[in-house]
This record gives sequence, structure tokens and C-alpha cells, in this order.
Amino acid sequence: MRIKAVGSIFLLASALLSCTPDEQPDYTPTAYDLKIPKGFPAMEIPDDNPMTVEGIELGRMLYYDSILDQNQSRACATCHVQEHSFTSVPDVLPHVNLGWSYNWLWKGDVQGSLEDIMEFEVQHFFFTNLDNLKSDAAYLGLFKKAFGTDEITYQHIEMALAQFLRTLNSGNAKFDKVQRGEAQFTNQENLGFELFFTERGDCFHCHATAFFTDGQLHNNALDTDPDPGHFDISGDPLDFGKYKSPTLRNIEYTAPYMHDGRFATLEEVVNFYSEGLQPSPTVDPLMKQLSNGGVQLSEDEKAALVAFLKTLSDEEFVQNPEFSRNTQ
Ligand code: HEC
Ligand code: HEC
Repeated sequence: MRIKAVGSIFLLASALLSCTPDEQPDYTPTAYDLKIPKGFPAMEIPDDNPMTVEGIELGRMLYYDSILDQNQSRACATCHVQEHSFTSVPDVLPHVNLGWSYNWLWKGDVQGSLEDIMEFEVQHFFFTNLDNLKSDAAYLGLFKKAFGTDEITYQHIEMALAQFLRTLNSGNAKFDKVQRGEAQFTNQENLGFELFFTERGDCFHCHATAFFTDGQLHNNALDTDPDPGHFDISGDPLDFGKYKSPTLRNIEYTAPYMHDGRFATLEEVVNFYSEGLQPSPTVDPLMKQLSNGGVQLSEDEKAALVAFLKTLSDEEFVQNPEFSRNTQ
């Protein structure tokens, strides 16, 4: 009897010692096993924001809830629509494979981790009013389950959203199936593949790697008098007209194209790269055929390039119920 009492006092004392007031002993999040598509590099996940089932679920709830908006009029998903690979018209950037991205927004306004860009979105775009969440009993419970906290902070919101966004990975398009030997390109798609990945079509320098973007900023010769682009951020005239090269994954679902949505179709985009390039002082040296107005493709080659771009469509991604609003 006495021994038992001593034991429980000991247990209580050690529980108090090992837990900060923020971390309750009943906080037992479930580690999430992130599946990385074959051929993709490992994703760097910050030590202080490990992925958990509860954190991702909270992030997903917040993504689809207008409670984050100071006026409560729009949610992230109002503009970032799953069936369009989390874009919508005219200039919304997609949410695809962002766990590997470090340069953010069309003009490269923000550099850093997903947590860093979430800070921008939550605090400087949505101006989230924390009181709205704090007075919501359901959210109090969800934050407690995800982070063991009774305090809802900007940081916890940003961490949860970052966790959810790290799950939005697309790597199961026909292109990937061909890489894995599970499918075959048609002859036309094969020609498009060759054009894309050789100097002939010259797309792969900037739309590089398994992500189909190098994540860098370039002036791709849209205009003789380009929009300012990264110049607006850096003030450096050499950055005039530079925009983030977007991923081409799911490009079929994300029309219209370019930072101002000027092209309605992929055919228009390919015509531009073929014969519509416009000189300006900061055009990227990787636009090697600038002096010829473009890479000068035949009609068959243009059609092949478009057919190849459509092999980057991942239907499973745009329909995955785990990325949709949780209606339960
Ligand atoms: C009113 C429409 C709208 C809403 C609502 C919205 N976004 Fe966006 N989002 C955009 C647009 C437009 C861009 C591109 C803006 C730019 O580059 O300047 C963008 C860009 C982004 C990017 C950068 C992607 C990249 O590749 O650089 C992220 C991340 C993002 N949004 C996350 C969110 C999150 C999280 C929310 C909710 C908290 C949200 N957005 C709500 C329209 C919206
Ligand atoms: C010098 C780097 C570079 C090269 C080479 C290049 N692109 Fe781009 N691409 C970009 C940049 C930067 C943008 C965004 C420009 C903007 O909106 O101002 C872009 C935009 C696009 C878009 C629109 C994406 C969207 O979401 O709106 C498509 C499609 C595209 N490129 C396809 C191609 C194809 C096909 C080729 C080869 C024929 C190619 N690109 C060659 C840098 C490049």
C-alpha cells in the first residue's frame, strides 16, 4: 500500500518534470508515413514540424475553412481548387509537390520553407483573426490533438497547413508510369518527350527534374516591354521580367497560362515558344533560339509536344479524396 503510494507520487512527479505546460501527457500524435513518388528525391521536413496524422487532418480542415480569413469570406480552397491541380483562373499558382520548393510566388517574393510561405499566407494575406478559432470548441480540440497545446497560435496554424501541403504530391501521371515501365508512350508522345528533353524543343532547362520546374526565376521572353516581375521585389534592373518557372505537372488542368493568364491553351503556349519569343534586355540565356524568334517547330512537332505535356496529367491526384474537403 505504502509502496504503491510512493510509486504514484513518483510517477506524477516525473510526469510534471517531463512535460512543459504546453505538452500534456495525453498528447499522443500518430507519426505519418509520407509516401514519396518513385524517382523523386527525399523531402526535407523540419525537425520542429514532423508530419502527424492529426496535424495533416487539422491542416486540411483549415485549408477548406473560411474561418482563417479575417472576413471569413474565402478559404484557401476557394482559389486553390483540387480539380484544377489546386489552381483556378487567372493567375493562381498550383499546390503540387511544394514540399520541395524554396522560392515562392510568381515574382519570388518569399524564399524559405513551406512554413515561411504559410506565415505570409496566414498573417499577411488572410490576416487571420485568432479569436475566431479560439472561440471554436472543435478547433480547440483539433489543435490539442495535433500539437498538444491549449493555445492556438499563428505558428500552429502555419505548421498544420504546411503538413497538409507536404502531402499534395503528384507523381502518378502517364509520364511516371512510363518511367516505371508500367505504360508506353504513343509515337506522338514519344516525339514530344524527345523535343522536350533535347535542345530541339529546349524546355527541360527550366522545367527540369521530376518536378518539371527548376524552382528558379527567369524571363522567358514574353514581351519586349515585360512586366516587372522580380524587379518589384529586389529593385535590381537585371531582375526585370523574371517569374518563377511553374511546374508543368497537371498543366492540362491549369489553364490559362503564364503569370497573367495570357494563353488560353497549351497550343498557344507552344506556338509562343516556337515562333513568338520577344527580345528584351533580361531574357534568360537559356532561351537559346531568341534570335530566331523561337525553336521553330513543325505543326507535327507542336502537336507532339502538346501530347507529351498531357502525359503529365495525374488524374489520381486531382481526385484523391484525402486531399478533398473532409465531409465526415
Ligand atoms: C483569392 C484567391 C486566393 C486565396 C483565397 C488563396 N490563394 Fe494562394 N495564391 C493565389 C494566387 C493568385 C497566387 C499567386 C500569387 C503570386 O504569385 O503573387 C497564390 C499563391 C500561393 C502559393 C505560392 C505557390 C508557389 O508555387 O509559389 C501558396 C503556397 C499559396 N498560394 C497558399 C495559399 C494558402 C495556404 C491559402 C489559404 C490560407 C491561400 N493560398 C489562399 C490565390 C489565392
Ligand atoms: C528560360 C527558362 C524556360 C524555358 C527554356 C522554357 N520555359 Fe516555360 N516557363 C518559364 C517561365 C519563367 C514561365 C512563367 C513565365 C511567366 O508567367 O511570366 C514559364 C511558363 C510556362 C508554361 C505556363 C505554365 C503555367 O502554369 O502558367 C508552360 C505550359 C510552359 N512554360 C511550357 C514550356 C515548354 C513546352 C517549353 C519548351 C518549348 C518551355 N516552357 C521552355 C521558363 C521557361
